[in-house]
Amino acid sequence: MTTTISVINQKGGVGKTTTVINLAASLSIMGQTNLVVDLDPQGNATTGFGKSNTDENKNIYNLLIKKIDLGQAIQKTNIKNLDIVGSHVNLSGLEVETANDSKRAFVLKEILSSEKSGLLKKYDNIFIDCPPSLSLLTIMSLVASDELLVPLQTEFFALEGITQLVKTIDRIKENLNPTLSIRGILLTMFDKRNKLSSEVDREARNYFKEKVYETVIQRNVRLSEAPSHGLPCVVYDKNCVGSKSYFKLAKEFMENNTIESAA
Ligand SMILES: Nc1ncnc2c1ncn2[C@@H]1O[C@H](COP(=O)(O)OP(=O)(O)OP(=O)(O)O)[C@@H](O)[C@H]1O
Ligand SMILES: [Mg+2]
Repeated sequence: MTTTISVINQKGGVGKTTTVINLAASLSIMGQTNLVVDLDPQGNATTGFGKSNTDENKNIYNLLIKKIDLGQAIQKTNIKNLDIVGSHVNLSGLEVETANDSKRAFVLKEILSSEKSGLLKKYDNIFIDCPPSLSLLTIMSLVASDELLVPLQTEFFALEGITQLVKTIDRIKENLNPTLSIRGILLTMFDKRNKLSSEVDREARNYFKEKVYETVIQRNVRLSEAPSHGLPCVVYDKNCVGSKSYFKLAKEFMENNTIESAA
């Protein structure tokens, strides 16, 4: 069974893309098969895997406007068992261009659903990297997903935006995707010297309970260096603190799936 997971938080720069890249890569290194869908016009997940975000043919925009099909959109990365549908800046125009299409929120879901038992069957997980907004692209992703993974930066305003995100998720569940669930909340950019980090950690666990991953991603400069080499950090420097945290997260991610499906 393939699980589709949106990595989402409307707040910018909280570690969504870093998490998509390094969690997907860790899981692939550990033997699972993963597809990353870069649904952010910035295309950071695409370039983070060493792929071009200016490819005029193979990109998510062309897939969503049905100029190409899924098979044509999927590209291999340098990592075994890890493929990607890359982004393109054209994607930023999609919302305006499709304004008259009442079914536009379902386009991604339809594309993925139609290949669930075909092209997508081999993937354990499909990770969708969402843009920092609650716009059409994010709604499309929420409609197309089974689960959500929410990175939360351990800083002052972290929990404020979450209330709005939870409201949006509830609205989507009521109207568009009743089975959508939160897979996990991930605390990112944790700095143990900063008292605030521990406070956000405590508050998040208090509010979301066991939904918060035990694994916390430390603030680590190697994680921010890796994308400029076109490599996931877990490949670029597999022994740094950041990579170790993402490997640990991958393990927890897999275990937590086993527990849920056994229940
Ligand atoms: N744990 C970390 N330690 C240090 N730097 C990090 C960490 N996680 C992410 N970064 C860096 O912080 C910046 C923002 O991270 P990232 O791009 O993953 O966030 P994002 O939520 O995807 O951003 P956006 O909302 O713009 O898409 C990037 O420069 C990234 O390299
Ligand atoms: Mg991003």
